[in-house]
Amino acid sequence: MVRKHPRSRAPLFGSLLLVVAAGAAALGAAPATAAPAATPLGQIVPAPAKVVAGGSAYEITARTRIRVDDGSRDARRVGDYLAGVLRPSTGYRLPVTDDAARDGIRLELDTKEKGLGGEGYRLTSTGRSVTIVAAAPAGLFHGVQTLRQQLPAKVEADSRQSGPWLVAGGTVEDTPRYGWRGAHLDVARHFFTVDQVKRYIDELALYKVNKLHLHLTDDQGWRLAVDSWPKLATYGGSTQVGGGAGGYYTKAQYKDIVRYASSRYLEVVPEIDMPSHTNAALASYAELNCDGVAPPLYTGTDVGFSTLCVDKDITYKFIDDVVREVAALTPGKYLHIGGDEAHSTSQEDYNTFMDKVQPIVAKYGKTVVGWHQLTGAAPAKGAVAQYWGLDGTSAAEKAQVAAAAKNGTGLVLSPADRTYLDMKYNKDTPLGLSWAGYVEVRRSYDWDPGNYLPGAPSSAIRGVEAPLWSENIRTSSDIEYMAFPRLPGVAELGWSPASTHDWDMYKVRLAAQAERWDALGMNYYRSPQVPWPAT
Ligand code: ACM
Repeated sequence: MVRKHPRSRAPLFGSLLLVVAAGAAALGAAPATAAPAATPLGQIVPAPAKVVAGGSAYEITARTRIRVDDGSRDARRVGDYLAGVLRPSTGYRLPVTDDAARDGIRLELDTKEKGLGGEGYRLTSTGRSVTIVAAAPAGLFHGVQTLRQQLPAKVEADSRQSGPWLVAGGTVEDTPRYGWRGAHLDVARHFFTVDQVKRYIDELALYKVNKLHLHLTDDQGWRLAVDSWPKLATYGGSTQVGGGAGGYYTKAQYKDIVRYASSRYLEVVPEIDMPSHTNAALASYAELNCDGVAPPLYTGTDVGFSTLCVDKDITYKFIDDVVREVAALTPGKYLHIGGDEAHSTSQEDYNTFMDKVQPIVAKYGKTVVGWHQLTGAAPAKGAVAQYWGLDGTSAAEKAQVAAAAKNGTGLVLSPADRTYLDMKYNKDTPLGLSWAGYVEVRRSYDWDPGNYLPGAPSSAIRGVEAPLWSENIRTSSDIEYMAFPRLPGVAELGWSPASTHDWDMYKVRLAAQAERWDALGMNYYRSPQVPWPAT
């Protein structure tokens, strides 16, 4: 892919020191004493905010019940989800009930627990019960992910395994550092089916990721049905990079993805990239082109050559229709309008375009998100800019983004030489690109979002996001190989307090995830930087 960035190499990081120290000490926890077979409490990814280990372990047995709040549909849904994870591997019945008994696995919604916020939870494990308390359903769900990781990795298997199924004693109290912990998936360069997207959603949920940014449109394909402009999908979605068949989501399929993501407490952020990255639309409707001539469909990997016609009224009628339909399908707060790599649009035209398009997004009730080039125009009040620069990005460009942040624009950080999951790990990585350098596992984890962009106030940082572009990514196995093991590190940067940040301890917790990925049948890259258990 041709990008304007200077190619830079990621520096090589430290040698492969096998650090055996468990992370519990740094998390303020004593080693678990009562249950040597249990994973020490808090030895999970992302690192919890606070762990106090001690007391008896809880054992899930054939008699265990999952008890949910009387009358709460949300708690019951989370309980059913947990039972779905545990039943195949334990072989236990694990009924989900709303009786008032105090033993078993208990999921409690308590709106008085304001300190836990919209996503936090408290997990307390004793000999008698594991109780997850949260003020909101998302917190219960995240607490369930913590519980999963406290159990042996084979709990993820889809066939019956032998126990014991122990959860170390103690308390985890946990709230996220940032409200935006995103993953982006480019379904335009290569199309991914609903089932492939759902599989990725499940993998993201394990690490408490809460935004799924779908890059729905680009030069190579338009992937969502739009009733008022039907050829966008039927023609503009008919191919992909390399000339394959492509595809698109019907409205029902997109809604199914949104619903599924929501059941895992991820909010879908749809991206309609403009004014560039629009060849699929321009090819579908001649009238969107300044010269009135539709270009051919495009199956290469260049960027920046296409642009909507900024001067034509029909351009804004088109955008109004598309934004209206996408907004109506999307319950989340945000609509991403791209705005990157508009190399065929003059800066003056770009500014004019953004001045016209952002109010359309607001008109349909959504908050604008754009790639950080939006800060070169006038970001709308409340807009969020997604920073995708790298160490080598010019000081002037970084200063422009920082100035917008000082002015109230929120920032989601996706530095390409840290968080881009499509960057190769090293020169031998068979998939991905390398225009932002090689990104090994340590490099993707070892930075601080709160202190990353010079001059940007930390209060402007909404969180982090790990994009996965798909120029040469085609299968779930490809997605997993590039996302794992880097995605959990970015998720941890988004969730865990900065005080827990420590590569030597992180890599031990990360290594322990491999058995879980094996049990889930996931692909991943066995980085030499991580002390994987012997296979
Ligand atoms: C981008 O990578 N063009 C946002």
